[in-house]
Amino acid sequence: MNILITAGPTREALDPVRYLTNRSSGKMGYALASAGVHFGHRVTLISGPTNLDVPINVDYVQVETAQEMFEATRVYIQKAEAAIFAAAVADYRPALFAEEKIKKTGETLTLELVRTTDILGSARSTFGFEGVLVGFAAETENLEANARGKLERKGCDLVVANDVSQSGIGFDSDHNEVLLVYPDRVEPLPLDTKDHLAHFILEFIKDLHIRKG
Ligand code: PMT
Repeated sequence: MNILITAGPTREALDPVRYLTNRSSGKMGYALASAGVHFGHRVTLISGPTNLDVPINVDYVQVETAQEMFEATRVYIQKAEAAIFAAAVADYRPALFAEEKIKKTGETLTLELVRTTDILGSARSTFGFEGVLVGFAAETENLEANARGKLERKGCDLVVANDVSQSGIGFDSDHNEVLLVYPDRVEPLPLDTKDHLAHFILEFIKDLHIRKG
């Protein structure tokens, strides 16, 4: 299979020295990329900024912003049979980029933010992707219901849901505990290393690919 994976955070610049980002380390997406290579798949990894080593034998595309990740995904998803969206993409970016460093002025500073494009949500509708579509859901409450909402709205075959309010799993941890949410069922995967979970998730994706024919 040709597999596209998005990973890591995005960075949305405010001025030449400041940006908005999140706590994603990229570990979950990179573990999936390594597992994909291990199983003999051809993997394209589109990654925001991380401190991780690029897994061997992946086609690596480095991006910084949500818009750059959108553009790269639009290109590389064309040859993919499965696409896994593990990146923590900024939902909002600053409305304006200040060319000069923003100066301290008043006691408060109000930033105007605008929505970024939903890359996963564009896969079916804008990119015309017909392969196995796997989203992630980072939730702090109502894990299954919220993940199911994303699965349906974005036309996914599977959403991997993680409770990011729990310490020791999710963002910037070596471990995770996920709920696999399918259109017709759920399957919990107990606490494990991201590397180990990635192997299981890849096996489930292979099954989905076979069933799609
Ligand atoms: O990187 P790590 O430190 O290993 O942490 C792993 C993780 C917690 C980041 C990962 O397991 C995870 O949950 N990734 C998705 C994080 C997220 O942004 O979830 P969300 O519920 O906000 O987004 C839902 C889905 O839409 C995700 O597949 C996301 O990649 C995608 N999305 C979101 C916004 C956007 N503009 N474009 C997108 O494609």
